[in-house]
Amino acid sequence: MRILLLGSGGREHALAWKIKKSAWANPLFIAPGNPGTASCGTNVPLDISDFDKIGSFCREEKIEMIIVGPEELLVNGLYDYFKSNTDLEHIRFIGPSKFGAQLEGSKAFAKEFMRRHNIPTADYREFNADNYAEGIEYIKNHPLPIVIKADGLAAGKGVLVCQNHLEALAEFELMIQDSKFGEASRTVVVEQFLTGIECSVFVITDGKSYRILPEAKDYKRIGEGDTGLNTGGMGAISPVPFATPAFMHKVEETIIKPTVNGLDKEGINYTGFIFFGLINVEGNPFVIEYNCRMGDPETEVVMARLESDLISLCIAATMKELDKADIKFDPRAAATIMAVSKGYPLGYNKGYPIHGLDQPLGKNSMLFHAGTKEKDGEIVTNGGRVLCVTSSAATLKEAVGASLKALSKIEFEGIYYRRDIGYEFPE
Ligand code: AMP
Ligand code: GLY
Repeated sequence: MRILLLGSGGREHALAWKIKKSAWANPLFIAPGNPGTASCGTNVPLDISDFDKIGSFCREEKIEMIIVGPEELLVNGLYDYFKSNTDLEHIRFIGPSKFGAQLEGSKAFAKEFMRRHNIPTADYREFNADNYAEGIEYIKNHPLPIVIKADGLAAGKGVLVCQNHLEALAEFELMIQDSKFGEASRTVVVEQFLTGIECSVFVITDGKSYRILPEAKDYKRIGEGDTGLNTGGMGAISPVPFATPAFMHKVEETIIKPTVNGLDKEGINYTGFIFFGLINVEGNPFVIEYNCRMGDPETEVVMARLESDLISLCIAATMKELDKADIKFDPRAAATIMAVSKGYPLGYNKGYPIHGLDQPLGKNSMLFHAGTKEKDGEIVTNGGRVLCVTSSAATLKEAVGASLKALSKIEFEGIYYRRDIGYEFPE
């Protein structure tokens, strides 16, 4: 099957690595990809924000399946673009429609959806310029902390957990009156703060049935011990020790089933991944957010643990036959650790040569490129999150140890990574 994977981060390298193992994938193109994905298939230097260019490439190369990594393309309607072109609509498309992608693209949409289907989530109200004054009163009377969320995509910066009312009111005003995030903060969700530990659960769905992928926990803060600024993710582990069979049973019954049944009942087209950002509140899972794609760096551990053929699962999804698909995981633990550039998540420099990439890492470790590029025959840093190593081992501690050992062989100016991934789960 002729496959096109869209995206260029660590998530896409992990997906490409997994797709390459599939008996089905031949050839695999990655657009635009990165120097890591080049070892799994053919990188195509496409501007993927330009749907016409993606469409033309698919026609020229007779692409049969398209797998979308990043959410923006889905939220902006790439699925709908393909389905509205008669010579593209036959392509098997992994990713939801624009309407379905609102699960991620609009927090208000996601909250209303959860409310309609009785899916456990924090209490909330939504506000805009029309009921602004009501919003002010609501915030003043709301217990602390208060969570203020821009409705739309805001590059991961649209959620603020406020410890006092003044801060919450200021943020609310900035978002609605001063359009802090432009269109994305015309509507604001004001939400109850939930206390607990977070984890990520992923499914692949055909819109009626689903298969649950290995769960993961990511480490969002820059500093060890979960301190400092939020990042795109500094590492991830799978399995998650507190995601016991009893907890996962609750996740499936109270969250996954009602979500997929809700999509089906509402006639929402959804073939692809759903990422449930969950919080464990005293043993009960609540949804913090939905994403309409896989997570990064969670994919780097999920793909390491998925033993089944990913493309077989994708084919089953596009045929609406996921209920018949078999899914197998590696029971071992996987841990990924992300190496970032000094200064990240604030300002950082790019273009530093990366050394040690050709050294053997150990047979249970795998290096994934995130923000790298080739320059004059050399691989150099090209982003905040530069690369990561995922290792598999009998225990989480050993997996983390193996990833740290492999990373110690890699060098670039200002390299930084957390050494405490999985720290809350000493064995
Ligand atoms: P989101 O962009 O929705 O994933 O939110 C970013 C982060 O904010 C989450 O990963 C949580 O750590 C935190 N957060 C969001 N909503 C809540 C909530 N209702 N209670 C506690 N923490 C939250
Ligand atoms: N690691 C979180 C995300 O991909 O959104």
